[in-house]
Amino acid sequence: MTKLNIDVSNKSVPLDSGVAYVFGITSLKDKLQIADSLIETSALSKVDLKALGAKDSFEQVTRIQGPEGSVYLAIGLGDEELSDEHYRQLAGAAVRNLADFEKVVIGLPTKSSQSSLAAIEGSLLAHYEFNEYKSVKKSRKLSSVTILSRELPASAEIEEAKLLAESINLVRDMVNTPPNDLYPQTFAALMQKAARGKGVTVEVWDEKRLTAEKCTGILSVGKGSVRPPRLVKIEYKPRGAKKHIALVGKGITFDTGGLTLKPGIGMLGMKYDMTGAATVGHAALAIAALKLNVRVTAYMCVAENMPSGSATRPNDIIKYRNGKTVEVTNTDAEGRLVLADGLILASEQKPDLIIDVATLTGAARVALGVRTTGLMGVGSGVETLQQAAKVTGEALWAMPMPKELRALLNSDTADMINSKLGDPSGGMLVGAHFLKEFVGHHDRDKKNQIDWAHLDIAGPASIAGAPFGYTGKGATGVMLRTLVQVAKSL
Ligand code: BES
Ligand code: MN
Ligand code: ZN
Repeated sequence: MTKLNIDVSNKSVPLDSGVAYVFGITSLKDKLQIADSLIETSALSKVDLKALGAKDSFEQVTRIQGPEGSVYLAIGLGDEELSDEHYRQLAGAAVRNLADFEKVVIGLPTKSSQSSLAAIEGSLLAHYEFNEYKSVKKSRKLSSVTILSRELPASAEIEEAKLLAESINLVRDMVNTPPNDLYPQTFAALMQKAARGKGVTVEVWDEKRLTAEKCTGILSVGKGSVRPPRLVKIEYKPRGAKKHIALVGKGITFDTGGLTLKPGIGMLGMKYDMTGAATVGHAALAIAALKLNVRVTAYMCVAENMPSGSATRPNDIIKYRNGKTVEVTNTDAEGRLVLADGLILASEQKPDLIIDVATLTGAARVALGVRTTGLMGVGSGVETLQQAAKVTGEALWAMPMPKELRALLNSDTADMINSKLGDPSGGMLVGAHFLKEFVGHHDRDKKNQIDWAHLDIAGPASIAGAPFGYTGKGATGVMLRTLVQVAKSL
């Protein structure tokens, strides 16, 4: 990946040959208009943009030859009032469409330093590409973006945007890496490497330690694979921190379904099933790098879900560290089995908030599509995440946890089953009910459960369809910015 240099300026610049200049267009009384911009567009004053095929619909781009060998890119601003997220998407779409230029100058009608900052973030995120495994690497030419805006962000804000984009791109790299190269041991090694020099402690629990610690969910899911499972724990504990957030991530490096084997078409893409773990790990490291004054402990529950002679069988019963027993009725509902260990460990610390992130259910994709995260939880968890997502612009939707669904997890022989085969109704909500059983309490009589939020990112974690905004094909790194925002808000 070519590094992207970001410049900002509050003055217009002379047009230069070989450079692309981006401005927004809207329509006024059916006529296309160039939106307020610091880009020099006087050459276009007599040009009929419509006749050139330009459209004002959101993110629609049109290339127009400019003076002195320069190129204009007119981008549609759509008909909604522009939020910071819109600026993120617009700059992202421009950068994706201009990868064949070395230098791009963007002059959107930004109204605040926050919207200029969003345009910077969108540019950095859109520049991501994954060509590690191409024998012929056709890297982008683009290496420099200048954001023109009357309201500029402070340089510390720009540095922070760069750091967050780097963290997100590291998540994307891990998720995009094929499962023959990314498995529990290599996942742990990559996290250890990323954590170096960040002022955090990292622990990697191998199968021996997992056995000693009674992490039976992770062991049970991992035992069908020749690659043993791991728990990776990252702790950031700044002096004087008053709040403590625990993050728990689903880290299935490949999900075949286990003995409850997925059909071929449903298995394809399941390298992405470790997205939650990669996200919480890199979010914790970003929080540490930003030196936020909050304690963060991340638990990454990492295993490969394979069918084999040593795999967990349907009807097996496992006993958890907290004494709870679970009958495994579906080895493909493995995410909740590994997350249970993480939630138990997190609860023992009695943090102020537990957040888990997981590509947990296909039902989340059915309910919310591929751009929106499903949010469930108890106490103030849901509200905290909603507030944070409002700031970051990431799409999140709160789902209910109807009480009557809990009974679907009753077992004849154990405390619970992990999922009945068959009726998939409310699958995302049933998954949340299972996890809730492993979220601890502040008190002995269990009246006061620890605040908890569950993020089902099965939809937006990876994009198979057409790229949009700052999101290209493949892993997205969704929710990392929102997790960091939660830490800021506490
Ligand atoms: N990793 C999958 C979730 C998933 C499925 C994501 C399809 C994207 C597309 C998860 O482990 C899984 O298999 N979930 C089951 C749960 C069911 C057995 C209760 C599912 O969604 O089918
Ligand atoms: Mn599964
Ligand atoms: Zn899975």
